[in-house]
Amino acid sequence: MWPDQGALDQALKQIASYPPLVFAGEARSLQAGLAQVCAGKAFLLQAGDCAESFEDFSANNIRDKLRVILQMAVVLTYSLGVPTIKVGRMAGQFAKPRSSDTEKIDNREIPSFRGHIVNDPAPTENARIPDPDRLVQAYNQSASTLNLVRAFVKGGFADLSRVHAWTQEFVGSSPEGQRYEQMATEIERALRFMRACGVDTENTATLHEADVYTSHEALLLGYEESLTRQDSLTGQWYDCSAHMLWVGERTRQLDGAHIEFLRGVGNPLGCKIGPSTSVDFVLELCQVLNPARAPGRLTLISRMGADKVETALRPLLRAVRDSGHPVVWACDPMHGNTFTSVGGRKTRHFDDIIREIAGFVNAHRLEGTWPGGIHVELTGDNVTECLGGADDLTDADLDDRYQTVCDPRLNARQGLDLAFGVAELIRSSGFA
Ligand code: PEP
Ligand code: CO
Repeated sequence: MWPDQGALDQALKQIASYPPLVFAGEARSLQAGLAQVCAGKAFLLQAGDCAESFEDFSANNIRDKLRVILQMAVVLTYSLGVPTIKVGRMAGQFAKPRSSDTEKIDNREIPSFRGHIVNDPAPTENARIPDPDRLVQAYNQSASTLNLVRAFVKGGFADLSRVHAWTQEFVGSSPEGQRYEQMATEIERALRFMRACGVDTENTATLHEADVYTSHEALLLGYEESLTRQDSLTGQWYDCSAHMLWVGERTRQLDGAHIEFLRGVGNPLGCKIGPSTSVDFVLELCQVLNPARAPGRLTLISRMGADKVETALRPLLRAVRDSGHPVVWACDPMHGNTFTSVGGRKTRHFDDIIREIAGFVNAHRLEGTWPGGIHVELTGDNVTECLGGADDLTDADLDDRYQTVCDPRLNARQGLDLAFGVAELIRSSGFA
């Protein structure tokens, strides 16, 4: 893919000499949290961009995405009564797999856009030439994104007493915003009640800080390898580009390079599971990626499509359950529900997204397994990329603020709305 092997080697060598972005101990903490999800005692919220952008890179952008994630997590935790493990698709989610190497623009065939870590989306042949300097830029952007996320979640921004402050202006007046405000007021009252009962809320760190972990698809193995380091404590190798890495639907071959790489690192791992997935594949995948059967090591991210999820998922749930392999089951309700709008935009309908989660939850109810989490593409901005939702975006609205560099994302209101919807689906199925 890269035309200049020498320049690629140089860039990777440079990254290999740079500090790790995350620490092995943090990856282990995430795995411990995910082990709780395996046991049905926590819920996973994995969310963020389809593809991070070199252009859309600012403190406000990162802060607003974090706000929605914190808001959604509060809704889920309050409604389900279990901790929400927060994992961002951020600080490294740049590379995109493509179904086709080229795309047609105005009757010219040019190489596909592969994410800002590889090439430029401008529709010219030149812009699409892979440039290894972008790997270094992606590392640097990941480092400063993570730095800001750490500062926000440990420095007071994620303090539960600020639960009202996470609501953005354009969300505040909406029905889902109002609903959130009501819940936030109840949480404040609960905190006051705890204090009145003599609980020392001031000195309870978990009320004032949050853990937000990072994740991305481990697609560019050169980049991932250059950030793979040996943990001095355990001697184990960790991919220190993010806390959690996942294999995408297009690269999850059991004898392929991506699975081979990931089985060698100690991080918690994910694998996308599409509608063509067989029982044999899933059982073998569990064996290859988690031979020690460590709870929290493996998350299976189902992305079947709303129409197929229930029938496609149930045999897999049953087989994994009967095999005794501990896994987190998460629902990606985005990637199986993408279509092209009348106006030619790649989009998803909010109703399909909810419908897929409903099918996912129902499949778990029928098999007696825990619908452990959701994996969604969203932004804190007021974009118009997905149809429907409480303000019922239509085809004609898509052109207003369609800003994604890859797949359509939920906006902050749709994200919040989704969290309420998910909580209701899980509770009404008798889980919480
Ligand atoms: C993605 O998560 O952006 C993606 C490309 O998903 P999948 O591999 O499931 O198609
Ligand atoms: Co995507």
